[in-house]
Amino acid sequence: MDDITFARKFEEVAALVKAHLETAPGCHDFDHTMRVFRNAEMLLKKEINADVRTVKLAAILHDIARPGEMASKGTSCHAEQGAVEAAAILQDAGFDEELIQKVSGCVQKHRYRGRFQPETLEEKIIYDADKLDSIGAIGIGRAFHFAGRENARLHNTEQEAVNSAAYSREDSAYREYLVKLQHVEEKMLTEAGRSIAHERSKFMHRFFEQLNHEIYG
Ligand SMILES: [Fe+2]
Ligand SMILES: [Fe+2]
Repeated sequence: MDDITFARKFEEVAALVKAHLETAPGCHDFDHTMRVFRNAEMLLKKEINADVRTVKLAAILHDIARPGEMASKGTSCHAEQGAVEAAAILQDAGFDEELIQKVSGCVQKHRYRGRFQPETLEEKIIYDADKLDSIGAIGIGRAFHFAGRENARLHNTEQEAVNSAAYSREDSAYREYLVKLQHVEEKMLTEAGRSIAHERSKFMHRFFEQLNHEIYG
């Protein structure tokens, strides 16, 4: 497939994904998909041996099955289901089978706690691009957004945060940082992803240090 045809088909797929994710909640809407797409483009500049078409299509399709997972109240896995849905969309759009298999693998393995671990460079890039959207300034923003939706406290102490349960009133953005976000850096799989994650981690640390200082002195 030549570059012009690929670009046209890619736009068709992106429009379809956008329409599908229109009603998804703020932390996993089409804006998230676009941020992951831009993260993936950033990683591609450093990880030059990766297949660009696979990465671009996988980034745009990676959360296609989020609405389905939410409708099933978490009983279906959006990564596994997404691999199936992504393959069907790409088949309809007329992409070749080899590319479809590679994209589908990236979607299947992108999840933080998934059953399948990323193996190929493209799978690792999609995993890292998705994780980068959960840390740094955007990660903090998303954590407060989520905590607000769940009626959690704006902030609490480390003790209150770590001794509480998920979805409780103490499940603050700070708890999300302490329990999960501060460890994302260690889980990155590409060199480029690790170095961006390191910078974003330092920023989160400074942010919560300042917040604690302002509130608790
Ligand atoms: Fe996801
Ligand atoms: Fe995602």
